[in-house]
Amino acid sequence: MRQKILVANWKMHKTGAETVSFFKELKSLLPKIMSGTHVSDTHVSDTTIVVAPPFTSLETASKLAKACGVKLAAQNMHWEEKGAFTGEVSAPMLKALGCEFVILGHSERRHVFFETDEQIHNKIKTALNQGLKVIFCVGEKLDERESNQTFSVLEKQLSLGLAGVNKAQLSEIVIAYEPVWAIGTGKVAEPAQAEEAHRFIRRKVWDMYDMDTAAALPILYGGSVKAQNFKAISSEPNVDGALVGGASLEAKSFIEILEQMS
Ligand code: 13P
Repeated sequence: MRQKILVANWKMHKTGAETVSFFKELKSLLPKIMSGTHVSDTHVSDTTIVVAPPFTSLETASKLAKACGVKLAAQNMHWEEKGAFTGEVSAPMLKALGCEFVILGHSERRHVFFETDEQIHNKIKTALNQGLKVIFCVGEKLDERESNQTFSVLEKQLSLGLAGVNKAQLSEIVIAYEPVWAIGTGKVAEPAQAEEAHRFIRRKVWDMYDMDTAAALPILYGGSVKAQNFKAISSEPNVDGALVGGASLEAKSFIEILEQMS
């Protein structure tokens, strides 16, 4: 069975003190959910929970996450391991803080900060070489969907991002399909739209690697995920979890999404 994963991407939210409050609430809610009545028919207890705070809260979050059984992710990193790159953060620095994952290729990095497929590829290679697991985001913009380019956009992002990544390294990668038009807009993809894109991604990975590698790859959906809309998306066979922005900022709304995992 594929790994189920639920990721909180806090983006540019939460100070250290706010991070402490979040984990305090999470710690009180998690045991209740784990022993809840839904556990037998959902994947609550076998889901890997990951939280990605901003860099400034990573150290605080690191200790608190461990106490809750939650994994830590960074939201970005530089592709070089060190050097004269003012304002940047490296993979070894993130490892030293206890990060197990790093989010790369997020659409806000691509479209607000103009990161290229080549830069994302370089970051993916460095992260894997440094022992970080990668949450690799792909997804089309609204105009690309409307002009029937969804699959060609996904194809290009996957081919360029994963170029030179070998089969063993691919097992350290999780792909997140985040249609840009659904991020922070309240406009969630229809379950069938998410499934179609996830199936395409898995088929592409099969072509690039092999069937077993593709079958084992967790593919997460992201874009306006909330407890109210996630059950239907999560029921699709190629959806293995979610990458959550807004609804991950409160422990309660984040954990309610966990209860919808199927
Ligand atoms: P929202 O859940 O706020 O739409 O953000 C999605 C996202 O970009 C997660 O990485």
